[in-house]
Amino acid sequence: MLLKDKSVVIMGAGSGVGRAASLIFARNGAKLICADVVRARVDETVALVTGEGFPAQAVTCDVSNVDQVNAAVQAAVDAYGRLDVIYNNVGISSNKAGGGPPPGFMDIDDAEYDRLADVNFRGMFYGCRAAIRQFLKQDDGEGVIVNTGSVAGMVGWGGTLYGATKAAGIQLTRGLAIEFASKGIRVNTVCPAGMITNFGQAEGATREITPELEARYGQQHPLGRPIAPEDTANAALFLASDQARNITGVALPVDGGYVAA
Ligand SMILES: NC(=O)c1ccc[n+]([C@@H]2O[C@H](COP(=O)([O-])OP(=O)(O)OC[C@H]3O[C@@H](n4cnc5c(N)ncnc54)[C@H](O)[C@@H]3O)[C@@H](O)[C@H]2O)c1
Repeated sequence: MLLKDKSVVIMGAGSGVGRAASLIFARNGAKLICADVVRARVDETVALVTGEGFPAQAVTCDVSNVDQVNAAVQAAVDAYGRLDVIYNNVGISSNKAGGGPPPGFMDIDDAEYDRLADVNFRGMFYGCRAAIRQFLKQDDGEGVIVNTGSVAGMVGWGGTLYGATKAAGIQLTRGLAIEFASKGIRVNTVCPAGMITNFGQAEGATREITPELEARYGQQHPLGRPIAPEDTANAALFLASDQARNITGVALPVDGGYVAA
């Protein structure tokens, strides 16, 4: 019960890491606001969580829309009286829908720049700001932010623009961790390597998991087994919990040793 009675907002809760985190956080005692731009998906996540008997509410939220992000945080305050944790987990890829390599730098037009920067970085900025604003209003002033970055923000892999947006999130994490440490607010990033989720698919599309795909993903890093969304969610759980009470400003790879290698 690492998050017993904690009020938690999870962004991008409709799929992949966000859905895994919703289930894992709830099983650890959290009361959830599950937010996602695709309503049907987040409704499914909430049905899974409440089906296990845990409290969760769905919110439609595009993280690049400041009003919707603020409303998601307010939903936690309305439902549970405060906010303890926000997990800013949303990220989109610049790969072609359905797979394929990321576009080359010279093939990225302004619209694609806006799309990635708005969701991957502006969305994280809005989520951090809304959460900190709420934390500072609360009696103890304390709160925890976990962001999802990527190993693509730590090494030159995964596409130049995508990696740059993820590196920006890692630096936002460090800056906020230092600026708000004296208030008792902790800010950390989990940085997964490639996972088989719906990442990079067309909006709302589901990726088929095959043994061949799992073997290919496993081969991408030294430990050799595919990285599951639950692996990343478990790292986020640890960072969100009091077990990590003296950890702030870190970018924690969940990568089977990829960055180390
Ligand atoms: N899957 C990978 O290989 C991989 C690797 C490294 C890092 N990551 C990061 O992990 C995080 C989770 O990705 P995932 O693999 O679970 O992907 P996913 O596509 O399965 O899940 C992402 C969720 O975010 C939602 N979303 C997309 N745009 C949104 C927006 N504007 N506002 C709100 N919600 C939005 C989607 O509807 C989806 O439910 C992302 O930050 C991603 O960049 C993924």
